[in-house]
Amino acid sequence: MKIRSPPESELLEACSLLSGELKPGTLSPSGSPLLTVLQRLAWFLSDESDEIRSILIREIEATLSLYYWDGGPRARRVAGFLQHVGNALRRQEGDAVISNVGWLEEVLPDAAWRIPTMIQPSTMRYYAWLGRNIKGIGHVVELGCFLGGATACLVHGMRKNNAIIAGEGKSEIHVFDSFRWFPWMANQDVTNPDQLPVLQPRQCFREHFERACAAFVEDVHVHEGALPGRLAAAYEVPAVRWTGGAVELLVVDFGDEYTVSQELWLEFSPSLIPGESIVVFQQYGLLRSQSVWRFCEDHRSELAPLHRPTGTAKSFRFIGRR
Ligand SMILES: C[S@@+](CC[C@H](N)C(=O)[O-])C[C@H]1O[C@@H](n2cnc3c(N)ncnc32)[C@H](O)[C@@H]1O
Repeated sequence: MKIRSPPESELLEACSLLSGELKPGTLSPSGSPLLTVLQRLAWFLSDESDEIRSILIREIEATLSLYYWDGGPRARRVAGFLQHVGNALRRQEGDAVISNVGWLEEVLPDAAWRIPTMIQPSTMRYYAWLGRNIKGIGHVVELGCFLGGATACLVHGMRKNNAIIAGEGKSEIHVFDSFRWFPWMANQDVTNPDQLPVLQPRQCFREHFERACAAFVEDVHVHEGALPGRLAAAYEVPAVRWTGGAVELLVVDFGDEYTVSQELWLEFSPSLIPGESIVVFQQYGLLRSQSVWRFCEDHRSELAPLHRPTGTAKSFRFIGRR
């Protein structure tokens, strides 16, 4: 039976979680059904399993039916979010995704582990596995290489890729970044934080990428470029452009803005190979990445869910342009 609207203090915290101002791990246990379901959802997103999915669907329904949600903009926002996620989780129940297989065992060199990176160790292994297993029928493109943590893993995998070694595969790796420093970059959960450069806002960090990634960079085509977004005006670098031919693997870590996803799709999707290319959204499994989920939902006829490794990265098979 509905008893009341959710307390305003809980709605405030819920909205801060959805915008990313508050990290789910920093919430203390409150006994609030609303905050508990959001915390669980955050955990599920980075570590999906079918059992948890069905439990969550029930918990979301229970939370929605507990309150009246017409109390104001915050209540409507949170209710809209829960309804949307509940529907999306229900739709995903039939998806044939691979959760964790070969990549769990992937071995990486020390030179890769030493690079300061925002991605998780499980994702680093996944990227090395992808690099090792692509067919070599198109290039690898990484958007948002930062200091090269993911780049190193992709290169390491590609160096062990039999098709590429045998000369049958012609894949090369291209990375794009504005390479402009912003203070938020030092405030993320970065591995090896003592190795982060100390830079002024908007200072170029390309040489720091090249130094951190020295063991791998000779195989990498590095592009300074930006896609329009919240901070685009501040980048003062050329727009990202792609004229390099077929792309077999596209790794996206350019943030979570819908417009950025749209722009990169316009630029790169014509070069994806229907039925073959893999597109990874590194930030998909973050509670605040609702616009990335929305983008993937809106492109469901082009992108079929593929891999769900532990961590925030989730990947899709490009089916074809619709
Ligand atoms: C979350 S970090 C990437 C972390 C990285 N994948 C790693 O291995 O640690 C996002 C990167 O994308 C770049 N970036 C974000 N939005 C961008 C945009 N619209 N255009 C160009 N670069 C962008 C930032 O400069 C930053 O280096």
